[in-house]
Amino acid sequence: MYSKVLILDFGSQVTKLIARNVRELNVYCEIISYDTNIDKIKQLKPDCIIFSGSPASIYDKKPPLFDKKLLDINLPILGICYGAQLISKIYKSNVKKSKIREFGPAKLIKNKNHKILLGIKNNSVSWMSHGDTIVKLGKNLEGLAKSEFGSIALFKHKNKNIFGTQFHPEVVHTSFGKDFLSNFIFNIAKCKSNWRPGKLIKNKTAEIKKQIGNGRAISAISGGVDSSVSSVLVAKAIGSKLKSFIVDTGLMRKNEVKLIIPNLKKLGVNPKIINASKLFFKRLKGITNPEKKRKIIGKTFIELFEKEANKTNADFLVQGTLYPDVIESVSISGPSAVIKSHHNVGGLPKRMKLSLVEPLRDLFKDEVRVLGKSLGIEKDLIGRHPFPGPGLAIRILGEVTEERVKILQEADDIYTRLLKEKKLYDQIWQAFCVLIPIKTVGVMGDERTYENTIAIRAVNSTDGMTASWSRIPYDVLDLISSEIINSVKGINKVVFDISNKPPSTIEWE
Ligand code: XMP
Repeated sequence: MYSKVLILDFGSQVTKLIARNVRELNVYCEIISYDTNIDKIKQLKPDCIIFSGSPASIYDKKPPLFDKKLLDINLPILGICYGAQLISKIYKSNVKKSKIREFGPAKLIKNKNHKILLGIKNNSVSWMSHGDTIVKLGKNLEGLAKSEFGSIALFKHKNKNIFGTQFHPEVVHTSFGKDFLSNFIFNIAKCKSNWRPGKLIKNKTAEIKKQIGNGRAISAISGGVDSSVSSVLVAKAIGSKLKSFIVDTGLMRKNEVKLIIPNLKKLGVNPKIINASKLFFKRLKGITNPEKKRKIIGKTFIELFEKEANKTNADFLVQGTLYPDVIESVSISGPSAVIKSHHNVGGLPKRMKLSLVEPLRDLFKDEVRVLGKSLGIEKDLIGRHPFPGPGLAIRILGEVTEERVKILQEADDIYTRLLKEKKLYDQIWQAFCVLIPIKTVGVMGDERTYENTIAIRAVNSTDGMTASWSRIPYDVLDLISSEIINSVKGINKVVFDISNKPPSTIEWE
């Protein structure tokens, strides 16, 4: 069995980052809600627990609280920020209420050499982001480190493996964050570094076999890494009892279908191609409203899918749901936790009565890539940037026509190729072109042109929830712009999108 870390989510924006850090140490972890009761927690058999931070204050009218019995079951616990304040308050510390947030870097001054600080140098930079502050520890607690400004940065229970940190080890700005978490997980909680996504094939296929039994399954492959990896896994488990489809909407990237088929075939997935581009273009004619486009595409996709599914008598639907889609977002102010609906399949009709097979629901995207690689999926397919279900339709402002899609495909193909040539593609979370079909004046040779604009977008992100624009070097931007304008008929301007999410979104529609 794997070692297991449980992360109690008190609603912090960066809870997923804690999980990512733990997984990167090759230790399995799960995020659960802060109010999960002790019996449920015991059933999950964790090796230790981490409490996340929170936008709440322990002085709120109804602060989010954990089951206090957790402190008495001899499990190592690490509280981060709000989590630390809660623990310290329970042990009768003095936590000062504050309206002003301390935000930013602070050097860590060690009071003691404890094994949770092993290898961490005095004066290393930590990152603070808190309102309330622990000013005096209760008598059962001892301070292990303070911040350069004198506040308590790290404490420990005198007789138990319970720790609290005011700084955020999970953010990259804390220079020693990874070492600190590693110390807690390995030196204190004695976890084993035994979570290897690339070695999951046997377990996963056994689980799938058990779930599907003698049933039949279908999957829709989009060309993205998630649907490909999950389909290959299921094909490995149940062979020809899996029927796969690719709905060619005409809104995919250039040569998409041609590119993905050979690799999938080699791995036992032989998808039927449903060529439906004519139908999609017909239904999208004259439609300019982004939401309407999405609805039409979603509905058409499901119609086609349902038709095929009925022919196969399937009982199961394979879905590439990932862990970030499954984690319940803890809403501190709202009455209940909300599970995010998955973009791609939000609209499957209930009448289809298909049970879901979701072999990737405990994995992060980069873990899926590792698994995909060990399944033998080609690097090009595995390392691809995410691509939205509605495809290029939401990257063409205004009406979607075949001609516009072609222009966008050509520009996008050049952009992607150049990013790969310049070794930038793998450093970027997502990069694509957007067609702005508004004509402006240009000059080419001796001739005046009156053509459209392409916007190029590139963002860095970990899960698509937040994103910052990628700093592509000027000379590469120059190359991209020149090649697109010179080679793509219908384009005479290229602009670069420098907006972050939030307040912007990654896609334009
Ligand atoms: P936004 O534009 O909301 O996008 O910042 C966040 C991430 O989600 C992708 N995206 C979609 N993926 N179906 C999908 O499968 C969709 O309808 C959809 N809309 C946005 C987007 O490409 C980005 O990675």
